[in-house]
Amino acid sequence: MACKLHLVLIFSCVYLICLSGQQDTGFVYNGFDQADDIFIDGNARILPGGLLQLTNTTELQMGHAFFKQPFDFDQSSSLSFYTHFVCALVPPKLGADGGHGIAFVVSPSMDLSLAYATQYMGVFSIPTNGTFSSHLLAIELDTVKTVEFNELEKPHVGIDVNSPISVESALPSYFSNAFRKNISINLLSGEPIQVWVDYDGLLLNVSLAPIEIEKPNRPLLSRAINLSEIFQDKMYVGFSASTGNMLSNHYILGWSFSKSKKLLQTLDLSKLAQVPLPREEKKKLPPLLIGLVVLLVIPVLMILGGVYLYRRNKFAEVRESWEKEYGPHRFSYKSLYKATNGFGKDCRVGKGGFGEVYKGTLPQGRHIAVKRLSHDAEQGMKQFVAEVVTMGNLQHRNLVPLLGYCRRKGELLLVSEYMPKGSLDQYLFRNQHPSPSWLQRISIVKDIGSAISYLHTGAKQVVLHRDIKASNVMLDSKFNGRLGDFGMAKFYDHGANLSATAAVGTIGYMAPELITTGTSTKTDVYAFGAFLLEVICGRRPFDPEMPVEKRHLVKWVCECWKRGSLLETRDPRLGGEFLSEEVEMVLKLGLLCTNAMPESRPAMGQVVQYLSMDLPLPEFLLYSPGIGSFMPVSMEASSAIVIPSLRSSSFSMFVTHTVIDGPGR
Ligand SMILES: *[C@@H]1O[C@H](CO)[C@@H](O)[C@H](O)[C@H]1NC(C)=O
Ligand SMILES: *[C@@H]1O[C@H](CO)[C@@H](O)[C@H](O)[C@H]1NC(C)=O
Ligand SMILES: *[C@@H]1O[C@H](CO)[C@@H](O)[C@H](O)[C@H]1NC(C)=O
Ligand SMILES: *[C@@H]1O[C@H](CO)[C@@H](O)[C@H](O)[C@H]1NC(C)=O
Ligand SMILES: *[C@@H]1O[C@H](CO)[C@@H](O)[C@H](O)[C@H]1NC(C)=O
Repeated sequence: MACKLHLVLIFSCVYLICLSGQQDTGFVYNGFDQADDIFIDGNARILPGGLLQLTNTTELQMGHAFFKQPFDFDQSSSLSFYTHFVCALVPPKLGADGGHGIAFVVSPSMDLSLAYATQYMGVFSIPTNGTFSSHLLAIELDTVKTVEFNELEKPHVGIDVNSPISVESALPSYFSNAFRKNISINLLSGEPIQVWVDYDGLLLNVSLAPIEIEKPNRPLLSRAINLSEIFQDKMYVGFSASTGNMLSNHYILGWSFSKSKKLLQTLDLSKLAQVPLPREEKKKLPPLLIGLVVLLVIPVLMILGGVYLYRRNKFAEVRESWEKEYGPHRFSYKSLYKATNGFGKDCRVGKGGFGEVYKGTLPQGRHIAVKRLSHDAEQGMKQFVAEVVTMGNLQHRNLVPLLGYCRRKGELLLVSEYMPKGSLDQYLFRNQHPSPSWLQRISIVKDIGSAISYLHTGAKQVVLHRDIKASNVMLDSKFNGRLGDFGMAKFYDHGANLSATAAVGTIGYMAPELITTGTSTKTDVYAFGAFLLEVICGRRPFDPEMPVEKRHLVKWVCECWKRGSLLETRDPRLGGEFLSEEVEMVLKLGLLCTNAMPESRPAMGQVVQYLSMDLPLPEFLLYSPGIGSFMPVSMEASSAIVIPSLRSSSFSMFVTHTVIDGPGR
């Protein structure tokens, strides 16, 4: 019996010694698997693997975990204590908000079941608010801002004494020993966070650091507190966590505690359990990725969009439904752009008041000339395009084939076959080109004559060119003359009344009756007559730089004829290789065609026959009425010269040729 009692005594002694030993050295938990000395209540539990979960993500929960043995904080022993723990606060979705937080608690009792969850952290309650009798110290890692507790920042670290209103708080951060600066910590990252609480009887220091970082040299919070007024003789140490509407999984991974700084055992961080992160992690990653991708993709899209808009704008065209029937004649701007090297300077073959002419090559290798005309009115465009297309149907070996057109805002492009030798006037008036021989000249005027004859009588409609002159006569590779630039052409059904259209043309080629009875085939004959004289005499029909008596070619040729020196009017560059009779005949024909009275002018068909000597030129006297008289109107016309307005005719708006606006319109 005595022996039994003895044994019990011995066991009790050993037990007490063990306890006091634990009291001195404190304890360390690198996991809570076999933590028999841990008391838990509420939502708290120990997960397989040794993780201490204070709360899961259930609303309005609190959970506590205390070391079962109280520590002596009586006046005789030291009030100091040191603790180091690793915790993790994992919201239901990473990156989202969570609540409410974890607190390290020093309490006179393990029973905090009367405390409130939510912002009271499972430590405090309204009845115990601020009363010293509660004898509570809490170091809170609070992830919710509670305005009534004067909490200004959402996640914060605070020292609470008997009240959820912190006596000291700060944004979670740590002092990096390496970088010697503060680095902030995201409490809700789900990553393990190390916390140190040191109290030496005077100062209470709190430090935080990420798991891989050593203890900071400077604490986050440092507060002078006399805990002898708060602590009772025996105090329990532990943790509390709570949820409210805001939820987090609150975990303690490891914990070391001692009343003595020297005896505080180090946590073996490598042994700590893994924190289960939300399953949404994978689903949660895409937003990050999407963000990155979006950041990368948006500029790319913007660049592509910009390029697209730029290209669309660059190649934009004006197309209207009525143009559909002209489909084959319509060129796309893009194809013309490509054909002319982007309307490059090296492709430009002509430039004038009317616009610019570019040489281009279509993919099939066909050479084209593209004339760019600017226009700013849509009016008359329909008729214009119709006529362009009609023109495309005109077939004559001495016409420059018009292939089609393209419309853009403020711009019209006419596409015709490329004439490699350029226009006749360059050969007549520019010294850098060889002067055409008599045979070439006579052949060219024959070509043009037959082209005009075809326009007047041979086509489906009567076509008035209205702007016959050397600069509109193009030369193909074989030096054949080809009538081009239908910029002012007009179309009439055969037998229609041709009068009452605007007077357009170029001074010197314009028949006097243009301003009274208007356009007719005879006005084209007049212009052709002026053109004949131009080719033979090698000068323009009206040249304001000449002396007065020579200024008007028709008049001057007639004067010379009167003086018996008709041949002297020929181009001096002709040299000697010509037949006088032919030259005389063509000069006379020129005078015949420029007769002031339209009814006295031959028809174009006859003119062709005269030129080819199939018909003899009719005898006419030098003093026949109308011969050699120059139209008086245009002599004073310099003041009446206007750039035609839209109302004048469908074509003339695109062309800035000199034009005499007729009266009465
Ligand atoms: C949280 O833990 C409690 C037990 O404490 C359990 O009944 C509940 O299902 C858990 N909730 C979740 C979301 O895990
Ligand atoms: C707690 O008590 C303090 C005074 O000690 C008071 O200002 C505060 O409003 C109280 N808070 C609550 C939630 O009762
Ligand atoms: C608290 O931190 C201060 C430095 O801010 C330091 O001087 C003091 O020794 C620390 N006290 C404890 C108990 O660690
Ligand atoms: C770092 O944080 C501590 C505590 O919050 C503060 O006292 C100190 O001024 C901060 N230092 C810097 C460089 O921001
Ligand atoms: C703490 O308070 C107690 C009782 O009020 C007092 O005896 C003691 O000297 C104080 N300690 C310090 C360090 O001020």
